[in-house]
Amino acid sequence: MSNTLYTIKSFFRFYLRAITRFQVHAPHAYEITSALLEDKRRYYAFRDVEAVRRKMLDSPVVVEQEDFGVGNDGGAAMVRKVPVRQLARIASSSPRQGRMLFRLAQWLKPARVLELGTGVGIGTLYLAAAARNARIITLEGSAACAHVAHTNLEILGLDKNVQIRTGPFSHTLGPALRELGKVDLVFIDGHHQQKAVLEYMEQCRPFLHAGSLVVLDNLYWSAGMTSAWEQLLQEPSVRLALDVFELGVLSFNPDIRVSQQYRLVPVRWKPWKQWGL
Ligand SMILES: C[S@@+](CC[C@H](N)C(=O)[O-])C[C@H]1O[C@@H](n2cnc3c(N)ncnc32)[C@H](O)[C@@H]1O
Repeated sequence: MSNTLYTIKSFFRFYLRAITRFQVHAPHAYEITSALLEDKRRYYAFRDVEAVRRKMLDSPVVVEQEDFGVGNDGGAAMVRKVPVRQLARIASSSPRQGRMLFRLAQWLKPARVLELGTGVGIGTLYLAAAARNARIITLEGSAACAHVAHTNLEILGLDKNVQIRTGPFSHTLGPALRELGKVDLVFIDGHHQQKAVLEYMEQCRPFLHAGSLVVLDNLYWSAGMTSAWEQLLQEPSVRLALDVFELGVLSFNPDIRVSQQYRLVPVRWKPWKQWGL
């Protein structure tokens, strides 16, 4: 089955089982859900980041991308020529995902943020715009993508507190984690393979604290990614898991006594749920 067909089928299954925040009674989960799905405020940052994306969509530039996300991390990168407009359109966080990242970061107020997979910087821009005082390290295998991302950060004046580290995650993740000490927000959005994602999670785990959140992208991009997510849900240390289809959010807070897992859609996608139907 193609990845697109897999994602579409998964969406229908997800939608049928999803609830809204009206069925979420735990305060912490309710707050995060509200920030992620129900905050209607529009920020200038959204317009600014999307203007940067539009500029890339019009760009004739083609870059040579070294892709470490195709095989084992640490192996040789596959080098291919990719138009910047394709990286902006297909390989970047969507506007909706970007807004969710922004709102989550705005709610969490992280001091230390780690992103795996900078791409051309769309997710980084949303995170950096929401957490202007945070120290952000973002990891990217492709020097060409990192260069485009850095230019984008400069355009919006968000480059001061963001460091882009170039190289395969197997080389950059350990040093970045040790440098940050503890991480408040981790966004894993690169190397979308079951084994790789679980290994990166494992590596990040000792650097998380009770208030940290981990965000995973592409839960339903492939059966392997869905299995990785389901495997994480089985882990006793995962105390809260919110699946909003385009992103998954995990908390390891041991104060959450009974582990909670929710599949969630905005209230407007299932309005009858607010009347208990
Ligand atoms: C989906 S894109 C990131 C999109 C970005 N986070 C956003 O929100 O717009 C994934 C990026 O991860 C990088 N990547 C994948 N596997 C990697 C690895 N093993 N080491 C380093 N970079 C990797 C790719 O080069 C690609 O640019």
